[in-house]
This record gives sequence, C-alpha cells and structure tokens, in this order.
Amino acid sequence: MESLAQKLVPEAVEKLIPYQSARRIGGNGHLWLNANELESSCQYGEQKEGYHRYPDFLPQDIASAYLAFSQQGSEPLACEAVAVRGADEAIDLLIRTFCQPGVDKIMVCPPTYAMYEFCADSIAAETVKVPLNQDFQLDMAAIKSQLSEVNLVFLCSPNNPTGNIIERADIVDLLEAAKDQALVVVDEAYIEFAPQSTVVDLMREYPHLVVIRTLSKAFGLAAIRCGFLLADTSVMSYVMRLIAPYPIADPIAEIALNALAPAGIDKMQTQVGQLVATRDWFANELASLSIVDHVMPTATNFVLVKFNTAECMYQYLCSKGIVTRNQSHEPALADCVRISIGSRESMQETLQALKDYQLSA
Ligand SMILES: Cc1ncc(COP(=O)(O)O)c(C=O)c1O
Repeated sequence: MESLAQKLVPEAVEKLIPYQSARRIGGNGHLWLNANELESSCQYGEQKEGYHRYPDFLPQDIASAYLAFSQQGSEPLACEAVAVRGADEAIDLLIRTFCQPGVDKIMVCPPTYAMYEFCADSIAAETVKVPLNQDFQLDMAAIKSQLSEVNLVFLCSPNNPTGNIIERADIVDLLEAAKDQALVVVDEAYIEFAPQSTVVDLMREYPHLVVIRTLSKAFGLAAIRCGFLLADTSVMSYVMRLIAPYPIADPIAEIALNALAPAGIDKMQTQVGQLVATRDWFANELASLSIVDHVMPTATNFVLVKFNTAECMYQYLCSKGIVTRNQSHEPALADCVRISIGSRESMQETLQALKDYQLSA
C-alpha cells in the first residue's frame, strides 16, 4: 500500500538516486584509496589522530544512543533516528524532501519558531498560517479546514516563543485528521524541560508523525550543531535521499555520544532541575513587579513576559547590557520580551535592572 510519504513526495525526489559518497558505497580492503583523502593525519595543534578520513556516512551509534534516550519506557519506539546538524537542518531537510518549490505548502501556527516559514520561503513553498488561539493552543477547526492544502504541518511543543505545551489531545486529533493529507512534524527542541509531554510514543500508531529534537537546549551543546530527526521508515527513506553526505563531523560525534551516555544524561537532568528551580523563582519574582502585565506559564528554559510600560523593555534591558529577545513584532505578542534563563546571578541582575526601572518610572 502506498504510504502518505510516498503520496506527498515530489516526483523529482522520488526519482532521486542518493549521492554515492565513498563511505556510503563502503567496501572491504586494506588500502583505502577511494575518497581522495590523505593517507595520514596532518597535526594542526591539539587534535586526535584520524581526521584525514571522512567521518561515518551516518553515525549509527549516535542514532541508536538517541533512540535509547528517547524511548523512556520498555516498549521500543516505532521509528528510525538520524543525527543532523541541529534541529534547523531537520526542518530544512523535511521541507526540501516533501515540498516541490512553488507548488507545495506547509502549515504553521504562529506565534511559533520562525525557521519553518523561513525554510519554506527559501524554496518558494508557501506557508499557510493558522494562528494559535488566545491560550496559545491549536485552532483545530481552522487547521482542519485547510489541511488538504498542505504537505507538512509544523507544530512546536513546548512552543517557542510562548513556552507552553500543545495539548496532546489536539495533536492526536490532528494526526487523525491528517492521516491521508499531511505529515505532522512536532518540534520538541525543549522537551527535556517537560519530558512527560513528548509525543514520540504516538509514532507507533501514526507513521505520518515526525519528531525533531536537539542537543542545543537542555544538553547545553548549541555550538556542536547536533539535532535529530525521528520518523517512520516510509518518511526516513525519502529524507535519506537528500541528506548531506557526511552531516556529522567526528569531533561532534564524540561529544554527542558522551552526552547521550548514562552519565551524560544524568548531568543534563541535574542541570535541567537546577534551571527549572531558577526559572520558577525568576518567573514568580517577575510576576510581582507592577511593570509586568503577565508572565506566561512555561515548560522551557525561557520565559515570555508581557510588560505594561510605555517604554520598550527590550531596549531598556539592552541599555543595561542585558540582551533578551524582543517579540513585539508578533501581533499576538505586543510588549512581550522572551528572556532565556541563565544562572541565578544573571537572573538576579536582570530582576534588579527591572526593579530599578520600576522605581524610576
Ligand atoms: C523550537 C526550536 N526548534 C529548533 C531550534 C534550532 O535548534 P538547533 O540549534 O538544534 O538547530 C530552535 C532554536 O532556538 C528552536 O527554538
């Protein structure tokens, strides 16, 4: 039976024969003269031996470690995993795999992460926007009425920049409605801050669900650019046609494997616990300020704050050397600033700057 992925994939991708890199072709032998590499390492400072060779085509050990980490229970997940250069590459790959430029469309629910629309724009794929409702939840009726127009629906849960989790029941409802229509991509970049809210288990029932993850947030490894795409074989087989020949560099693979080992996961979870305590303290303190209209409940490592001041608090904080993210360009987020949670000291300094403003206002 034809899978939904097969139905949606553009003809050009369907016909595409993946680039046959030297590592992908593989082989057996004692002399490796197939990839135009040097036969011995050049040392340019402190570095391990062996960097003269291309890395693994797709490092399977990282993919397996990530699947084991994502599993959370005894029942195996019904999906494959691939490591990519950050969640951003996963978004880009999905759009390039399942949207024909100038023809196919994606759906997003703003306010949300801007890269979905950006990546669609970059290949002239149109973005259908169905804004979140007042509670920053899905507008199911509006989504369903436009589902037949799009190939991919991007949800972000916990959502950036609002910080909330999208209701699981709505995601299930959407998956039911999208069964013969569109792939549903759930970006779980912040999921380690609310692990019980993952929808990764739903892939057992819904092969058109795709989940995106990253080591950039809770694992604290934004610099290494390592993310993951979790998807059913029917989806993954097409993504694999477009994936870069060697997406994960060897030094990155080493760091990622250490992070995904039991000791690494423990460390990450301890850090998350500390960050959540700082976040909840900071959010409470913010909520008590008269210049604050509202602090959105958050399941992430940031808070979205609505101020009731005439002055733009983003600019004010910048003038104090504190760089946050201005969200006022979003129609639903007038006077809102997104503040990432740092150390207790950093949040104390931010709070003090806001208290100083309040006193002088
Ligand atoms: C929702 C969301 N998805 C993806 C990303 C990008 O993650 P990565 O650093 O893995 O590319 C971000 C980064 O801010 C994000 O907020």
